[in-house]
Amino acid sequence: MGLSTGNGRASAANPAHDALQQSAREHLLLHFSKQGAAYGADRELLVLERGEGPYVFDTRGRRYVDALSSLFCAQLGYSYGEEMSAAIAAQLGTLAFNTNWGTAHPAAIELAEQLAARAPGDLDHVFFTNGGSESVESAWKIAREHFLALGQPQRTKAIARTTAYHGVTLGALALTGVPAYKQPFGAAPIDVTHVANTNAFRAPDGDDPAGFCARLLREVREAVAAAGPEEVAVIVAEPVQNAGGCLTPPPGYWRGLREIADEHGILLVADSVICGFGRLGNWLGIEHEGVVPDLVTTAKGITSAYAPMGAVFVREPVAEVLFRPAANLRHGITFGGHPLSAAVALKNIEIFERDGVLANVEAQTPHLAARMEELRALPLVGDVRGAGFFWAVELVRDAANGTFDQAERDDLLRGFLPGRLLEAGIIARADDRGDSVVQIAPPLISDAGVLDEIVDALGEVLADAGTHMGATAATGV
Ligand SMILES: Cc1ncc(COP(=O)(O)O)c(C=O)c1O
Repeated sequence: MGLSTGNGRASAANPAHDALQQSAREHLLLHFSKQGAAYGADRELLVLERGEGPYVFDTRGRRYVDALSSLFCAQLGYSYGEEMSAAIAAQLGTLAFNTNWGTAHPAAIELAEQLAARAPGDLDHVFFTNGGSESVESAWKIAREHFLALGQPQRTKAIARTTAYHGVTLGALALTGVPAYKQPFGAAPIDVTHVANTNAFRAPDGDDPAGFCARLLREVREAVAAAGPEEVAVIVAEPVQNAGGCLTPPPGYWRGLREIADEHGILLVADSVICGFGRLGNWLGIEHEGVVPDLVTTAKGITSAYAPMGAVFVREPVAEVLFRPAANLRHGITFGGHPLSAAVALKNIEIFERDGVLANVEAQTPHLAARMEELRALPLVGDVRGAGFFWAVELVRDAANGTFDQAERDDLLRGFLPGRLLEAGIIARADDRGDSVVQIAPPLISDAGVLDEIVDALGEVLADAGTHMGATAATGV
């Protein structure tokens, strides 16, 4: 995400810091980054070396509130290292590794059982991966094998949503609705129709939730009809869509998706890679919709990022087909369900329940929501939206909610904001895969004081950004 400070700050002598900057430039390729810009002479790469509670510290010793939970992962923050390492050490003392390729190990079996027990409805089966893209890719392949075993090989198509990010492996990328990420890599291996997401702010009927919902669902129905209802395998959506800025669904939307899927024998997939594991105050990020999807993809918070892991939850009737004599699951990942990650995920569940993590999100959400709403008073803020510990502000050009042009977005989102946020001691995300937004997703252990610290810092930065953009417009600089 290119969290270089971008401010060209003069640096006090710090040889260890300088050596890391130099070595990174020489050897470390950054993900989703323009390497030249991220390592530009006017830039300093943000190198984090230590964490404590919801805070992280860089190699200069500067402290930041990790208001993004290290890309929506660090649900528990950073102070559970000893407990996690004890869990890892115990696992290392018995069995460092075995796969789930036709064999298994106790940690994966126990974890699958514990996860199924917490999932809504009959999401009783779990397929382990190493992360979100692999989970989405696996969900697609499980769906395909399900339909092949059912004698429906023609179901090769998918419905997903515009601006949604579902990952980078080529199958997951096909489902992703961000054209700029797909364009370099050629024709998509899955025939996907992208329908409108649930961005009410820019929708003509967005202030009429019932009408908005009906129109969105009509579009899904039309897309299914156009693709051929017998040819569609999956409908994929996030409970609250991240890209575009925490796009919450109107009431009835998920029930509507469930109905459409049921009507046509299509599998409904909730991509809960971000929304799962407490981000919305519950386990899979979908419970509050009162709908049980056929498959749920997860990653990130499943271990609170103390180890890499992902998982796909599969409903009993979908998995049952895979147990039939003719069925085969021709998909596997060497490290999927790694015992060390499974041990961490089990400890993560234990800590969530012992320390009341879901209850904390539920208890603090009204406070966070109210504090975020205060930001509407800023001229730069056009909309505030989100749920649980997952919020966005949409930044607007003027009182008529005008959007910024490319040069303004480059200046605001990639020039001004990254450095200014860090200066204010906060890690948040400025993004314009859809319209211009700044997002926060605090660690789920954050109390009201930490949430206040985050919103106060965000307000201060956005006020400055408003002045900056006003000055830019006035002077044409
Ligand atoms: C909704 C969603 N799905 C899938 C992914 C891909 O996850 P990963 O980066 O772990 O491969 C992401 C990543 O942010 C995501 O937000």
